Amino acid sequence: MNADLRKFIDELYEDGKKFDSAEAEWSRRRRNIDPPAGEFLWIFIKALQARSVIEIGTSNGYSTIWLADAVRATGGTLVSVDYDGAWLDQAQANLRGAGLLDSVELRCLEGGAYLESLSDQSVDFMFFDAERSDYARWWPHPSRVLRSGGVIAVDNSTSHPQEIADLYAQINSDGGFSSVVVPVGKGELIAVKSGLAAPTRL
Ligand SMILES: C[S@@+](CC[C@H](N)C(=O)[O-])C[C@H]1O[C@@H](n2cnc3c(N)ncnc32)[C@H](O)[C@@H]1O
Repeated sequence: MNADLRKFIDELYEDGKKFDSAEAEWSRRRRNIDPPAGEFLWIFIKALQARSVIEIGTSNGYSTIWLADAVRATGGTLVSVDYDGAWLDQAQANLRGAGLLDSVELRCLEGGAYLESLSDQSVDFMFFDAERSDYARWWPHPSRVLRSGGVIAVDNSTSHPQEIADLYAQINSDGGFSSVVVPVGKGELIAVKSGLAAPTRL
């Protein structure tokens, strides 16, 4: 990430922390991922050479900027979905400010409905940072749409392990995944689908 973009994203994060600490209503908080988690996802996408990337839970686009910069480097596409259009308006402004609006498609959709609409084995990397109680009912679509060798990353895996326990159980009982919780930021569950097929070509 270049120094100007890093400065932009660091200021956005600090602003978000101040905003959230002053906001009593939980759903109006930005609840951005921690910077080390952003760096981890950024490097992971580039190492995987992921080209078809999706994010569920955009908020004001802080994590989206990390993902979009990585996807710009892999030459792929990023779709970020949030069911709240007001958040997407903020994300659009922040992505424009970061110079990354052209690298992202923002869509106002419920995460499960979006996953259901995708073709089999069409996604290289998916990141979940939405309402955690929703994840389990999205199954089996995350597994169905992920290509062999693709990755599911789930935030809050050490901060709220009970809230992602049902999804974790589904991943582990699927039989086609290897998984680990990486203690970075609020914890990233990383689940890799078996197989070594090449990243999706767009
Ligand atoms: C924790 S915030 C996302 C923070 C963002 N990833 C970041 O780090 O900057 C969660 C967001 O997910 C959205 N959301 C929650 N459940 C959702 C669902 N089932 N489908 C789509 N969006 C959802 C909320 O509107 C909210 O903007």
